[in-house]
Amino acid sequence: MFEIVYALIECCLNRSIKMPSHRTEFICLNGRHSQIILECVESGAPVWRHWGEAGVHPLPDASLSSQRPVPPFSLDEPVPLTLVPTFGTGWFGPSAFHLHRDGKDWAHAFTACHVHQLSPDHVRIDLIDDIAKIDVSVWLRLDPDDDVLTMKTRIVNRGEAKCDIGWLAAGTLPLPPEAVSVQSLSGRYGNECLPEQDRLGRAGWRRENRRGLTSHDILPVASVTGPTTDFSNGPVWSAQLAWSGNHVQTIDWNDGAGWVWQAGEGLAPGELQLEPGASADSPEWLATFSPHGLNGAAQNFHSALRKRSPGRPDHKPAAPRLVHYNTWEGLYFDHDEDTLAGLIGKAADLGVERFVLDDGWFRARNGDNVGLGDWVADPTKYPSGLGPIADKIIAAGMAFGLWVEPEMVNPDSELYRAHPDWALNLAGRDRPTARNQLVLDMTRQDVIDYLFERLNNLLGTLPLSYLKWDHNRELTHAGAFERPAFRRQVHGTYQLIDRLRAAHPHVEIESCAAGGGRIDAGMLTRADRVWPSDNLDALSRLEMQSQFLQFFPPEIMGAHIGTAPAHVTGRSQSLAFRAGVAMFGHLGIELDLRSLASDQAAELKSWINFYKSIRTHLHAGQIWRGHAPDNVVWQASAGDDGILLAIYRTRPGEARIAPVVRLPFVQADMTYRVVHIHPEATAGKAVNENEDGRHPAVWPDRPSRDAGWREYRGAVLSGHGLALPLLPAETCLFFRLVPVGS
Ligand code: DGJ
Repeated sequence: MFEIVYALIECCLNRSIKMPSHRTEFICLNGRHSQIILECVESGAPVWRHWGEAGVHPLPDASLSSQRPVPPFSLDEPVPLTLVPTFGTGWFGPSAFHLHRDGKDWAHAFTACHVHQLSPDHVRIDLIDDIAKIDVSVWLRLDPDDDVLTMKTRIVNRGEAKCDIGWLAAGTLPLPPEAVSVQSLSGRYGNECLPEQDRLGRAGWRRENRRGLTSHDILPVASVTGPTTDFSNGPVWSAQLAWSGNHVQTIDWNDGAGWVWQAGEGLAPGELQLEPGASADSPEWLATFSPHGLNGAAQNFHSALRKRSPGRPDHKPAAPRLVHYNTWEGLYFDHDEDTLAGLIGKAADLGVERFVLDDGWFRARNGDNVGLGDWVADPTKYPSGLGPIADKIIAAGMAFGLWVEPEMVNPDSELYRAHPDWALNLAGRDRPTARNQLVLDMTRQDVIDYLFERLNNLLGTLPLSYLKWDHNRELTHAGAFERPAFRRQVHGTYQLIDRLRAAHPHVEIESCAAGGGRIDAGMLTRADRVWPSDNLDALSRLEMQSQFLQFFPPEIMGAHIGTAPAHVTGRSQSLAFRAGVAMFGHLGIELDLRSLASDQAAELKSWINFYKSIRTHLHAGQIWRGHAPDNVVWQASAGDDGILLAIYRTRPGEARIAPVVRLPFVQADMTYRVVHIHPEATAGKAVNENEDGRHPAVWPDRPSRDAGWREYRGAVLSGHGLALPLLPAETCLFFRLVPVGS
């Protein structure tokens, strides 16, 4: 909810406000658990007073400058952190933008400020620098339901000469002194979403991605935590940038008054220049505060991203996430009409609902060195095109999905031979390939039009309802007509996707980039699903998925059951463990169905059925994650129909006594029926089986073991915990917790 609070007098809303100097005025945005307070000052940018827990920070009764003593040998009027800090004010911290006109107009200070209420929880603040002739607008919207603040900044060149922008923060946020560390994600191909934890210090914190797309290396996400923060307790300030290109995140020391947090696009030299009258927008920056630990922040983001998802117009629940079969790891490039015809029935029998034909279907594509850019079916493998295969898939009751990599071209392709000038390049320099490919210049409208025509033709002539949209190399030499193209490249891709989605609204899109190289909130307004990694090893996936869920919801997380040994790691796990780990995302199967023994097929089928029984719950629910002692991790999902709990042991136990799992999400005064679910095929082999081979319902619950459930008070589950059987390594158990009364 939005309020502008006047400490001295009341004033009506819904109007642009010029700030008088004789009283202190505040902009307040209120969430459920968080609150924002900005102090309006005469003409300059509003001063940050609070972003954090709601209700604990009373509205200041005076201006910050009247309350803070002036430090010795400092400016007589110290400059506090504002919404848009700038060098030209006497601010020594990081500026919200770097701009100059041929070396002039490089220091900025605002001469006027206007606050506009756009809706009850949405405000725009217009700032004018009448000397440097620069206008800046900042949008702030705090969702009152999920505490996610969405910020965006626009800069306008009001001068008479072109200006050069080297940095434009999407937003500037304050962090209090009790923030002690920052958690972020890094990784590489085959090992994505690796957690990084850095202690905040005076040297500051900076993560800069220069790889041209979101990257495996540094995701544009971070969570700042307090000294005692854990999964379910303590303060978390978390943010993610909605941008699929280069990006920068920084946290700077603020002279002991906390920290300054900024994020924005990473810009190459000369990349962003504004002609007189022109403007540039930053990407959106989504930020949230939760007093309820990392899980609280994750739940806030899940809610916000669900609202932004293209598959959920009007915030309606998403359609059930269909079970995929993906051909990649089972077949790689080695497929043709007969091979696929033999697989389609097998996939349908298992309960697969969407058949996704991955790489290798187009002209000459028998390896990764040829064919990208042409996008016509290979005449040897598919002499009649993809139509016959598509018909078989549809006749078997499945939807049809197809892999494409639109922004790429192999030098060995008809497209490149015809248009070598269509690849990004630096004039006179080499064109280094990666995975034997170059990147098409998405700043060119003729390139976008060509790709639209090719993809539109595929979508218009085949019964396709799904594209897996890949991007298998990082950008180097990203020049277009002698100028840096990184930023315009992202906008070109967004334009292409937006055009295709408008022309084919029923088509869903998966964002993939050599596994998880393009996962960000910008892509997630256009993609229904992402592919986190080609690593299908269940142990790797368990940690990766937990990190992924910190920022993104489970229904967009492609989670496939692969083969053993896993192709990327060489490790083997049981089918039950691989399946049990894959249950917590958007399920798929990715192995060679021809080599599946009948007992394995039966087990796989039962897991697919189990997934179908939980997906509606899982894909709308609230997620909790946690660790229990002795190599046990757990995940839970709560919805109107109860709680689904999955417990995984990753390594052999070290303690003699089996661990208990404390469940912080239950209500202490509620009674829960805890039901051990057997997804038919057992989800792991408990050591302590009953005589009939079934697992005890809830170990060591002898009396009710046959019934398969037992009732507990919530206070017992959260305080003492749920006792577990002696699980061997790499096993999992599923429980349903149903509240049965207080
Ligand atoms: C990389 C992806 O991560 C894989 O799943 C697969 O689609 C290949 N590209 C195809 O080339």
